[in-house]
Amino acid sequence: MARLQGKIALITGAASGIGRETALLFAAEGAAIMASDVDEAGLAGLPGRAVKLDVTSEADWQAAFVEARAAFGRVDILVNAAGIAIGGAIENATLADWRRTMAVNAEGTFLGCREAVRSMRESGGGAIVNISSAAGLVGDPKLAAYCASKGAVRLLTKSVALHCARAGYRIRCNSVHPSFAETPMLERMFARASDPEKLRAGLIRATPLGRLGSAGDVAGAILYLASDEAAFITGAELAVDGGLTAA
Ligand SMILES: NC(=O)c1ccc[n+]([C@@H]2O[C@H](COP(=O)([O-])OP(=O)(O)OC[C@H]3O[C@@H](n4cnc5c(N)ncnc54)[C@H](O)[C@@H]3O)[C@@H](O)[C@H]2O)c1
Repeated sequence: MARLQGKIALITGAASGIGRETALLFAAEGAAIMASDVDEAGLAGLPGRAVKLDVTSEADWQAAFVEARAAFGRVDILVNAAGIAIGGAIENATLADWRRTMAVNAEGTFLGCREAVRSMRESGGGAIVNISSAAGLVGDPKLAAYCASKGAVRLLTKSVALHCARAGYRIRCNSVHPSFAETPMLERMFARASDPEKLRAGLIRATPLGRLGSAGDVAGAILYLASDEAAFITGAELAVDGGLTAA
């Protein structure tokens, strides 16, 4: 039995990495997919419908939900996977990088949650899964803005979860916290490093399970939280980090 049979899922950041893997897995599990990204060309080849959605744009969010409802009648699942990582310790980080990071990672997730709650409360409920990071649970000295944005996603998630529960909406909201998953985002980080192989080995050494994660590792956790198997789980944070934050 497919785990998302009959569900309608809107996924952001679906052109690449974790978002893309999630779209493919959800489709394989029976969901109808609305795949979105600011990189419209990157959505080619995905199942379902594709829509250009810049998560920093309020108008894009409204249009995406209008289109999803017109096509499918409702949205049952929102996965906020779009995100950017701009490195920078507090001494060197620029205000422009801070603002861009907060706009995509934190504001983008805020706008998505708001639009989803307004839609799902009318259609009888749903599930929101926000992709934060291990860097939203613990600090990283080289990622000041990124950590702040992902910490914001973590507590936004709990606020949304509590609001929906208290309002009596059947809407759950949870966050997923990957560490180092081998996606184009991580590959870009390796490419910028002075010694990529040393960096890769260091990240593997730091991970108790002794390997990097994969987009599939993260998509599996997202699938669980989005499915009815997680019907009693809301406001939770699920680390998908090979034990990194357990220590
Ligand atoms: N890969 C990792 O190791 C890792 C670790 C922790 C958290 N994460 C988080 O997981 C999520 C997915 O990351 P990934 O590794 O798949 O990265 P990725 O770079 O492979 O994919 C991110 C996608 O987001 C899209 N995007 C960027 N800005 C956007 C915007 N304004 N509107 C819409 N889409 C936009 C990009 O076009 C891209 O398709 C991100 O939120 C990231 O912060 C990743």
